[in-house]
Amino acid sequence: MPYQIILSTDPGIDDALAIIFLSKLKVLKAIWTTVGNNTLEVCTHNAMKLLELLGRKEIPIIKGAAQSLSLNLDFIAEVHGKDGLGNTFLPLPDASSFIWKNLDYIISILEENPGEITIVSIGPLTNLAILLQKASKKTLNSIKEIIIMGGAVNVPGNVTPYAEFNIYSDPKAAKLVLTSKLPMILVGLDITHKVILTEAHIQVIEAKRSPLNEFIAKMSRYYLKFHKRIQGGYLHDPLAAAVAIDPSLITTQDFFIDVILDDPLKFGQTYPTKSREAPVISVGVDVNSEKFLNFFMNTLLK
Ligand code: RIB
Ligand code: CA
Repeated sequence: MPYQIILSTDPGIDDALAIIFLSKLKVLKAIWTTVGNNTLEVCTHNAMKLLELLGRKEIPIIKGAAQSLSLNLDFIAEVHGKDGLGNTFLPLPDASSFIWKNLDYIISILEENPGEITIVSIGPLTNLAILLQKASKKTLNSIKEIIIMGGAVNVPGNVTPYAEFNIYSDPKAAKLVLTSKLPMILVGLDITHKVILTEAHIQVIEAKRSPLNEFIAKMSRYYLKFHKRIQGGYLHDPLAAAVAIDPSLITTQDFFIDVILDDPLKFGQTYPTKSREAPVISVGVDVNSEKFLNFFMNTLLK
């Protein structure tokens, strides 16, 4: 059975690169948008713009969470630009030309394809938390696996010294999901900080001239400007997407991960305790960066 992925996403530049990557691999079953890098409206518009650019408007869009369960999100516009796609300002396609679905659709395809569908979450975990609250145990047990871009276990966070953005944006939702006992892999900053898109990569992509590659180059250069310190841009979301296809890209260790909610300083920290009876999740502790970057670049250049 070919991979089938439901993507919960807040496009966002690295989200957009993950969407392009998964679309080229023809594994995207649905795009489920959430507030995160920008408002739900803007993130959903960006999903529409990307599907239009990719010629993949047969992929259904589910408009998800408009606000977090924990706090009113204040996203940091400059990371992803005013439009959330590196100020590329693509035209907004007509909404009527897309396939719009809802949470019931996600529940029905999970039930109709037991053990076949992977949920990849590359934004705040609000959508997943709502699914946990709404779906039956039978439906939840039909999920093949959940891959989560989020958290910082043995490294500092990127919003505070303790918390990573996707967790910090909705720690309540993150705690619900990470302690849910469902099969999941956590792709956190511990490994996404080891996969960096550089200007050299961008030049290889733009050398293969096409409107899509021109867009990727322009959007990515904006992203690199924000990450000047590291001479590149972290490929957080594309790594999580790639792990859903090839888990051998990373090395994992099992931990019980909990999320700090009651300490204002460490709010949103994902911390590991080795606890026998608690649900354990596979946490990415290392990555074969070269193998991932080859996979990512070869797929984008298809
Ligand atoms: O911390 C990185 C995560 O936050 C990525 O998903 C990025 O898109 C932002 O949402
Ligand atoms: Ca994201």
